[in-house]
Amino acid sequence: MRAAVLHPGGGPSLDLRDDVTALGPDEGEVKIQIKATGVCHSDLSVVAGGLPSQGTMIVGHEGAGIVREVGRGVTGVQVGDHVVVNWIPACGRCPDCVNGESHLCMTHMSDLFGKARFAVGETPAFGMAGTGTWAEEIVVPWEAAVRIDDDIPFEYAALLGCGVSTGVGAAVNTARVRPGSTVAVLGLGGVGLSVVQGAAIAGAARIVAVDPNRSKHGVAMQLGATEVVVPEELRATHDAVTQGRGFDTVFEAVGRSATIQAAWDVTRRGGDTVIVGAGAADDLVQINAFELLFRARNLLPSVYGSSDLRRDLPLLVALHRQGRLDIESLISRRIRFDELNDAVSALEKGDVIRQVVLF
Ligand code: APR
Ligand code: ZN
Ligand code: ZN
Repeated sequence: MRAAVLHPGGGPSLDLRDDVTALGPDEGEVKIQIKATGVCHSDLSVVAGGLPSQGTMIVGHEGAGIVREVGRGVTGVQVGDHVVVNWIPACGRCPDCVNGESHLCMTHMSDLFGKARFAVGETPAFGMAGTGTWAEEIVVPWEAAVRIDDDIPFEYAALLGCGVSTGVGAAVNTARVRPGSTVAVLGLGGVGLSVVQGAAIAGAARIVAVDPNRSKHGVAMQLGATEVVVPEELRATHDAVTQGRGFDTVFEAVGRSATIQAAWDVTRRGGDTVIVGAGAADDLVQINAFELLFRARNLLPSVYGSSDLRRDLPLLVALHRQGRLDIESLISRRIRFDELNDAVSALEKGDVIRQVVLF
């Protein structure tokens, strides 16, 4: 089958091959035929080397498709089910899952690199985040396959597997944005625009959306932002909207220390700076110790939007059906598998929001 392969040592470009095999399913695993997969900034970070890769890797983690085979002992999903790929599958048994924080579950994440679920010719290969959705077929633990209604288009289901659930979840689950509150969102890609929608769903009174790329501004307004500015204008807008007190909740959806700092600087005393972007391990954020205590802001990490996809997906689908969660506006282009390298460069240039490969 076809799959996008990243060789050891990384990019700059992907090897788009047709001799890849998905191995299994073993006990507790399922094989999914991928029908649609998105291009998220984290994929770009893996290809460019900002996020780690290991060995030979199949890239992609935002996908949806149809269950084609189930391994021994799988009862949670069936052959023929339409499913969203969950890249933090919850085991349901560890202390984090039992505490209701299944987005922190490491049961499957910790063996990600332990198990090669692909072969590229004769070479064993790993799937990005244990998935590897830039492939026609993947094998994952059954918990990573979350059933979705058959009438939801696969490209929407794919985006629900990362960008949309991460962004909406950051607002609704991690920050619990309150009705009437003031919010700022830094970074208006597929993730940040989903944060904007989540904040609007939660009833925020003011949603200031920030991006240097003005081509993202129109869609942000359409999705619920009350004002949209470039970063240089954030300070003045902060003064006007919050009378200089700071926003109740500020989301960083870029993945860089400089924007985390900027988000922190416009958060009010007692407010929340929410980290949604995935930054690099060598990019250090500096906050002085005095401020850390006396300016009394909270730094909240939002891993995967604190989502439990089995719990949250029905809610997201319901919001979508009610016309309150717009997924179509996040899709800039539908592309073919052989256009993936172009798609990665287009995301890097910032010209697009989500691009979706349709198999
Ligand atoms: N201030 C605000 N926005 C910025 C800034 C800045 N200083 N610099 C860049 N941006 C904007 C870009 O112009 C772009 O619109 O951030 C946006 C990032 O969007 P995408 O590249 O589409 O990224 P996305 O897929 O939304 O992911 C965002 O979340 O999951 C993580 O790894 C992912 O760290 C990444 C982040
Ligand atoms: Zn668990
Ligand atoms: Zn992603």
